[in-house]
Amino acid sequence: MPENESTTAQTGLENLLHETRSFPPSPEFAAQANAKPELYEEARADRLAFWARQANDLVTWRTPFTETLDWSQAPVARWFADGTLNAAYNAVDRHVEAGLGDRVAIHFEGEPGDTRTVTYAELQRDVARAANALAALGVETGDRVVIYLPMIVEAVVAMLACARIGAPHSVVFGGFSADALRSRIADAEAKVVITADGGYRRGAPSALKPAVDEALAPKEGAEPTTVEHVLVVRRTGQDTAWTESRDVWWHDALESADTTHTPVWVEAEHPLFILYTSGTTGKPKGILHTTGGYLTQAAYTHRNVFDLKAETDVYWCTADIGWVTGHSYVVYGPLLNGATQVIYEGTPDSPHQGRWWEIVEKYKVSILYTAPTAIRACMKWGEEIPAKFDLSSLRVLGSVGEPINPEAWMWYRRVIGGDRTPIVDTWWQTETGAIMISPLPGVTAAKPGSAQVPLPGIVADVVDDEAHAVPNGGGGYLVLSEPWPSMLRGIWGDLQRFTDTYWSRFPGIYFAGDGAKKDEDGDIWLLGRVDDVMNVSGHRLSTTEIESALVSHEIVAEAAVVGASDDLTGQAVVAFVILRGEHADRAADADGAAAVQTELRNHVAKEIGPIAKPKRILVVPELPKTRSGKIMRRLLRDVAENRTVGDATTLADSSVMELISAGLQKPS
Ligand code: WT7
Repeated sequence: MPENESTTAQTGLENLLHETRSFPPSPEFAAQANAKPELYEEARADRLAFWARQANDLVTWRTPFTETLDWSQAPVARWFADGTLNAAYNAVDRHVEAGLGDRVAIHFEGEPGDTRTVTYAELQRDVARAANALAALGVETGDRVVIYLPMIVEAVVAMLACARIGAPHSVVFGGFSADALRSRIADAEAKVVITADGGYRRGAPSALKPAVDEALAPKEGAEPTTVEHVLVVRRTGQDTAWTESRDVWWHDALESADTTHTPVWVEAEHPLFILYTSGTTGKPKGILHTTGGYLTQAAYTHRNVFDLKAETDVYWCTADIGWVTGHSYVVYGPLLNGATQVIYEGTPDSPHQGRWWEIVEKYKVSILYTAPTAIRACMKWGEEIPAKFDLSSLRVLGSVGEPINPEAWMWYRRVIGGDRTPIVDTWWQTETGAIMISPLPGVTAAKPGSAQVPLPGIVADVVDDEAHAVPNGGGGYLVLSEPWPSMLRGIWGDLQRFTDTYWSRFPGIYFAGDGAKKDEDGDIWLLGRVDDVMNVSGHRLSTTEIESALVSHEIVAEAAVVGASDDLTGQAVVAFVILRGEHADRAADADGAAAVQTELRNHVAKEIGPIAKPKRILVVPELPKTRSGKIMRRLLRDVAENRTVGDATTLADSSVMELISAGLQKPS
């Protein structure tokens, strides 16, 4: 196993691989399921013909495509390249044209309890208005628009309005700081930013616009940004600073805009969006997705993995649109399939810990897609809370973002799913655009804790260091050996980094960055990242990025960050810092150490965002390094997880670990 192998999911691995519980689909579920076992056979017989059929069945093309895949410029794929289409037309207009305008697209539930119901016909009008408003602000096909919004209906409208005019959107999660926002705006050279005065969070308005103002303010030593206008949604009504020539209220712009708009038909490979995600270096990667292949796989997976029946289901994915899950399974997948869905603005425990289950009861949610960390939080709050609500409408449960431990899986099925619902544990990444590995409800006998099998049309395997497939029972690296429609087309502005990051570890095949095992049945178990990427509450964070943030503080000389296993969040950020000489004694006593910890945590929140705040910061005199100067994070993880420190013989100075352990305060 490589030096950086994540140990999180390995704990208890031997138990996992002996998992014998199996939950085959009920005959009733299987009989009505969208996905049948034949789907695997069809895809195996002719993979490209299979994808061409999905593209034709699930997407409406303005000009039909004649070529399914062009892999001649690998690793940049071209899918359905001579077809033309529009993503917003597919998500909205075609349903209205088919007479479904009165179907509810979105049941919106604000955190304070305000609600809004949006039909497909209303969505069409709003998206058309917003597209006209963007055009009036000078946004043209190909221009980039940054979206920095809370989870409100306007976020969906904004994304679709961009798609309608062929302007790639770059959604930045509302929890990222002004600095993080600025670097994303600069990298994408955005023309317009769409934001809100604020959103509701834990019972109070939380401002967003000030971060945009700060991100766009002139900064010493930095080029001015390319942003010409800021479109501001009024959500909370809080006082908002205004730059007259630049800022425009969303409601003013939409009010005066026409309610019809002709979609811009784009080529299948036209960029649909950029979404920044953390990698192993300090600089986030702008993952680029294009239109035709992405929409095909988003719709296909949403229909088959969740068994969506658009006429009767009420679907709810709890992800924020700031993450890829929100792109593929709040916006594009469900809307392409004409689904009725719930969007909830706030946190699961506001104003009480039963809020989610209250929402399930209220809207009769039938399909719920969430993250293991949320399930573990609910387990901690106690099963008497969900027990107070009627959850009998639920018929499919999904999980995403990190490995789900079998205990949480069993709880999810029993307490939330009434011992009745299939659970789909879906493995995928920002880069893959859509679900890749997952059981199919109605087909697969589910195993708690395993994502199990590549979907029909996907070729995945677990390989060893030499790229050889491991036998059943073996472990190694997860790879994707054939191109897939929703695969990333590159990293914005950095094709070389795209090749280096994903295609050079095993030439010609995609390296996902995850460790994995195959059990005796050949089912795949994901084991966490094998690179310097952490997974905290299903969110990807880079150790290097947080280290850079820490050393940018004047009192820090050196920093090393590790992801330590955490019962609730999967991994937690633990930082080891060496203070600069003149500040070294600041952490000498407990009060001093606590003050340093607070100051540095706030600094990381300012540099990246509150999600990146280390849970613990330990001030140490030295860091364990190899003779070539590489920090041995494995040893620090041992310390962070309160384990006996492992083999330290390759350290340049083998006494360092004793020094660190001896000097540490009790964990705070
Ligand atoms: C990384 C991708 C895909 C949307 C959410 C995260 C981990 C994701 C699972 C799963 C085990 C999982 C992997 C992957 N991951 N889903 N079902 N089982 N691990 O997207 O931020 O791009 O992170 O999340 O480590 O590489 P992301």
